[in-house]
Amino acid sequence: MKIAVAGTGYVGLSLTMLLAQHNEVHALDVVPEKVEKLNRFESPIKDVEIERFLAEAKSGEKELDFHATVDVVDAYTDADFVVVATPTNYDSDKNYFDTSSVEAAVSAIRSVNRAAWIVIKSTVPVGYTASLREVLGDRRIIFSPEFLREGHALYDNLHPSRIVVGASKDDEAIEAAERFAALLAEGADPGERDRVNPDGSCGIPELVLGTTEAEAVKLFANTYLALRVAYFNELDTYCKVRGLSTIDVVNGVCLEPRIGSHYNNPSFGYGGYCLPKDTKQLLANYKDVPQSLIEAIVEANRTRKDFVADEVLQMVWDRVYEGAPAPVVGVYRLTMKSGSDNFRASSIQGIMKRVKAKGVPVVVYEPTLDEPEFFGSEVTHDLVGFKSRCDVIVANRWSDELSDVAGKVYTRDLFKRD
Ligand SMILES: NC(=O)c1ccc[n+]([C@@H]2O[C@H](COP(=O)([O-])OP(=O)(O)OC[C@H]3O[C@@H](n4cnc5c(N)ncnc54)[C@H](O)[C@@H]3O)[C@@H](O)[C@H]2O)c1
Repeated sequence: MKIAVAGTGYVGLSLTMLLAQHNEVHALDVVPEKVEKLNRFESPIKDVEIERFLAEAKSGEKELDFHATVDVVDAYTDADFVVVATPTNYDSDKNYFDTSSVEAAVSAIRSVNRAAWIVIKSTVPVGYTASLREVLGDRRIIFSPEFLREGHALYDNLHPSRIVVGASKDDEAIEAAERFAALLAEGADPGERDRVNPDGSCGIPELVLGTTEAEAVKLFANTYLALRVAYFNELDTYCKVRGLSTIDVVNGVCLEPRIGSHYNNPSFGYGGYCLPKDTKQLLANYKDVPQSLIEAIVEANRTRKDFVADEVLQMVWDRVYEGAPAPVVGVYRLTMKSGSDNFRASSIQGIMKRVKAKGVPVVVYEPTLDEPEFFGSEVTHDLVGFKSRCDVIVANRWSDELSDVAGKVYTRDLFKRD
């Protein structure tokens, strides 16, 4: 089967690798450098499994039938399925979810291929795919939510928690959704076929449902994850203010099996590319629908960052004696998680913004950033100099690199893990 993928970011590239094991895959991107890198078997993103697949394909150890291109005719002609994995963004000021790259990709696909089934993998507002089908008079557009984590993008597709595909209620669309689900399952690690799920079922759970329901699954799943992060962060805020041990309280709360001891490590707030925009989009979708909780989740993330920034500033004033030179706050890594290579909407940026708004200069240590400045703050790769210059160092996630200056580090990474 010929499959095309539009967009070679975290989602598009991991799906390209997954599907290229058993199909001919043409991956298209609008950035020529990414395309050239891929054709040299180099990964444009940091992801252990993607790098391994590319290295094995280069050495001939693994058969992967793919090539990358910027040419829509090459990519989309005769494709049976075209997966759209282009970026979408929420603009809080305009209360608007920008899906223009999805529309651009769909229009390019249809300019050369009227018959392909288009599978939107990008996250979109609830109801988007149905309205796109109606506006374009095009039945052959389905939606499949993507659940991968950055840094584990291909791993999560090789070992998927579930496969969900949304289609309109006609037999042909449902059959196409089932075929697409089968393609994803075929690419998964063979061991997943025999796995036993917590409910006793075997194999990868597959769900074919309406497109609008599938879109809601994605936004409600991410909003639940944001809720959990916000919950343990507010638990930590309470313990910090009242002088309780957060670790003891979290450990005790999480012994309840219905709560569980996963995803409970305090942080500066939920962040990254998806959770901030998806929670805000879900809140926007609630327009005219009664709710208090969804809004509270979004608000809780702001409250948490205000609290953390106040604590950092207090630590700065406590450490600076009268007549001392102007204090400097160090930001240790802009990334959201240890091992990550991007810092789109990372929560530490919210702390940085608040600290700078109080007139305290900030220096950033971020080895993956090759720019002299980040939002007007100096960027350094010199860890030793950074540690000695900064009065207080803020770190969303702890690193043993900071052990020798632990006394001036502010972190809420109490369990020392993501
Ligand atoms: N990153 C994640 O963890 C994750 C998880 C689940 C869902 N998603 C969703 O998937 C979508 C893509 O996310 P991502 O992280 O892979 O984005 P990304 O920014 O890493 O990659 C998007 C790619 O699309 C390319 N592109 C832009 N316009 C294009 C066009 N018209 N045609 C072809 N390529 C184009 C860009 O150059 C880029 O390489 C978003 O909607 C996101 O919300 C992301």
